[in-house]
Amino acid sequence: MSASSFLEGNACVVGLQWGDEGKGKIVDFLSEQADVIVRYCGGANAGHSVMINGVKHSTHLLPVGVFREHTLNLIGNGVVLDPQKLLEEIEVNTRKGFSITPRTLKVSYKTHVVMPWHKLEDAAREAAAGAGGIGTTKRGIGPTYADKMHRTSAIRVGDLLREASLKEKIERITTDKNKVFSALYGEKPLDARTIFEEYSEYGRKIAPFVDDTGYLLIQAWRAGKKILFEGAHAALLDVDHGTYPYVTSSSCSTLGLFSGTGAPPQCVRQYIGIMKAYSTRVGGGPFPTEQDNEIGQRIRDRGNEYGTTTRRPRRCGWFDAVAVKYSVDLCGVTSVALMLLDVLSGFDQIKICTGYRVKGERIPYFRTDVETLAEVEPVYETLPGWQTDLSECRSFESLPREARDYIDRLQTLIGVPIRMVSVGPDRSATLIR
Ligand code: IMP
Repeated sequence: MSASSFLEGNACVVGLQWGDEGKGKIVDFLSEQADVIVRYCGGANAGHSVMINGVKHSTHLLPVGVFREHTLNLIGNGVVLDPQKLLEEIEVNTRKGFSITPRTLKVSYKTHVVMPWHKLEDAAREAAAGAGGIGTTKRGIGPTYADKMHRTSAIRVGDLLREASLKEKIERITTDKNKVFSALYGEKPLDARTIFEEYSEYGRKIAPFVDDTGYLLIQAWRAGKKILFEGAHAALLDVDHGTYPYVTSSSCSTLGLFSGTGAPPQCVRQYIGIMKAYSTRVGGGPFPTEQDNEIGQRIRDRGNEYGTTTRRPRRCGWFDAVAVKYSVDLCGVTSVALMLLDVLSGFDQIKICTGYRVKGERIPYFRTDVETLAEVEPVYETLPGWQTDLSECRSFESLPREARDYIDRLQTLIGVPIRMVSVGPDRSATLIR
């Protein structure tokens, strides 16, 4: 099966756990056959890495399609854009030889802008909350989405290009924010003039990339182009359907792709779920299968489970089939890519969580409310492990029997076919079946 068959009727790639499943690698693999790659949610809190010829490349805001010469890359209206970070990413990757130009990258004029007060508020709120905080990336994500909903205190990419009104907006919003920051957090006042100078300069630099991406997307769809929607974060971090409040602030399940881009629902038929062979989570929130012990540390070391964006150590644990089945159902997943299977080599036994018990009662489904989730006791099934290093395997058949049995068991539990298996970071270490 080639990359193009996954794009039949266009596709969306989505994380099925708490993020960091390796979506970047699969988007990169599929983008070889795609014409348009579209990011629809989140901001510079995301981190996608791809390994090309042994060299690691990362993006936070840029769609992973920028590493292919032939693709058009769109940043949709559902994203929150830190212009400084975007320009840095364009510069770094251009220096590495990738061509990122207004012909290959377009940013929606409707995309909301992360302003200095958003980052300040994110950090101040987390500091004030102490141990009760969310454990955010402090990239200003939540406050930017909150202002999007407030409307009068929001700034969109299109606003950066209109200097007179931008100046007026920044002055007005800064005056209000300074009152709040000094009263609530004892922060020093922000200077509207400095912010205006900085952001109008970003506006001048970004202007050539700004476009009506919703219109471009519909044109591309009508012309029969192959479109790939690049999810960021994951279903269990979705603001509505994730483990609220320990979530990010965007609609990062597949359900957000339509509002986050302006694509019509019938334009996407394939929903490709990405999951690791185990579970990880960054930041706070209940995590039923967490192994805060030697097992978790071994997974962390072998899987290099440290955040791409913040370098925080990730919490690690066994695969949770109850949680993933929930995400599969929520996201309408049609096939799955199983990532980082090689990390589990060397365990004598591997556990899979197949059910939950709450106060002794078995519950057959996932609950996102953190009060219940914090109380669940995972019910485990134990499978034999394998000792072989999988990183050189290049076909499904060459995997040891125990690894194949593990994949088959996961597939049965989540109820959708596992079509891709990744055993290493390189493009070639992706097995298709
Ligand atoms: P925020 O997105 O910075 O507001 O952080 C909210 C929560 O989502 C924190 O627990 C973050 O660690 C988590 N989070 C946000 N983006 C990602 C991601 O891409 N991978 C994993 N966790 C994430």
